[in-house]
Amino acid sequence: MNFDRTILVTGGAGFIGSHLVQRLLTNYPNYRIVNLDKLTYAGNLENLREVEDLPNYVFEKGDIVDAAFLGDLFNKYDFDSVIHLAAESHVDRSIANPMSFIETNIVGTVALLNAAKYHWKDFEGKLFYHVSTDEVYGSLGETGFFTETTAYDPRSPYSASKASSDHLVRAYHHTYGLPIIISNCSNNYGPYQFPEKLIPLMINNIKNNKPLPIYGDGKYTRDWLWVGDHAAAIDLIFHEGETGETYNIGGNNEWKNIDLVKILCQIVDELLDRPAGSAEKLITFVKDRPGHDRRYAIDASKLKEELNWEPSIQAEEGLRKTAKWYLDNSEWLEHVTSGAYKEYYTKMYEV
Ligand code: NAD
Ligand code: DAU
Repeated sequence: MNFDRTILVTGGAGFIGSHLVQRLLTNYPNYRIVNLDKLTYAGNLENLREVEDLPNYVFEKGDIVDAAFLGDLFNKYDFDSVIHLAAESHVDRSIANPMSFIETNIVGTVALLNAAKYHWKDFEGKLFYHVSTDEVYGSLGETGFFTETTAYDPRSPYSASKASSDHLVRAYHHTYGLPIIISNCSNNYGPYQFPEKLIPLMINNIKNNKPLPIYGDGKYTRDWLWVGDHAAAIDLIFHEGETGETYNIGGNNEWKNIDLVKILCQIVDELLDRPAGSAEKLITFVKDRPGHDRRYAIDASKLKEELNWEPSIQAEEGLRKTAKWYLDNSEWLEHVTSGAYKEYYTKMYEV
């Protein structure tokens, strides 16, 4: 089969990557999508079951840190573009073990940049799209928003590793002319997120009548974006964004953690047919995350004005869809929290 494009997506078996791969495969049957993933605890091929038999899909298991492997891969497929999502992504784990974040997020990104730079030579029609986070901008007070020109101020090992990778991607653009785009997004939620992150952890704990650990005073604030909206934004920016540019992506949907968890408690009680107020009794305030960023909020007006992108789903609807998905997909939840994955599921901060 002849394809119009061959795109390397890294981290396509993870949470956001699997939504993006599904979207690209179904929206662009004329593109060949090669999903490179190491299948860490966070990567799961079950996330891609609905599309794994499509003729334009290829899975390659491998590590982005492995330069020789990447060289062979670029020779084999002759990619015209890369959408880079592979990363260690959980802040708490970066506090417990920073090294794997340095290896994958920094060294792995440079290995990929080198592979693209070496293999492409002529940059015409090529693109290296780097998927990043709003955490590179640091922490906000009660007011204000992160824009694309906000100075970087990463404060956790995770965000420092992502900031470093962003700088390196930009450095390859400025130094070698590599065509790049970066997007920095706020907190995603939805199906297939590993249940170590706030929303799926809370849903799973409510289901199992386990304590709901709220770090510190619970007034830390995040901007939440439906994962499908993030995938749609990446698709749009990939096709219509300007080379060398950065785009902020956000949900315009800020919640203090405690308020979000309370809403989730109501929704899950309702879905499980439990008496109102049952889940809220499980809320337990625990020791704070070290260096916890107080507030993130994104100004996504550049994306709206230049590419006409807006989030499609707002909070309650998205939370309800998410809770329903986790409750309907107990088998998936069981797989990722048991067997070989179990050690990774163990909480680092005991309740
Ligand atoms: P995730 O942890 O769910 O998935 C990461 C994927 O990368 C997994 O499939 C894992 O197996 C793979 N991977 C890890 N190390 C690898 C390596 N060395 N080589 C190859 N594959 C490797 O992460 P996610 O939440 O889907 O995040 C994806 C990207 O989006 C990350 O770069 C993250 O920084 C960024 N991001 C995430 C959020 C969010 O809210 N989750 C928000 C903004 C940006
Ligand atoms: O902002 C984008 C970032 O969002 C991404 O780059 C990261 O990959 C992603 O993990 C996410 O980081 P956060 O640290 O904001 O997400 P997390 O779900 O871990 O935590 C959300 C908030 O909830 C945060 O203030 C910490 C708090 N929290 C989290 C957990 C897991 C709790 O209070 N209790 C918990 O058990």
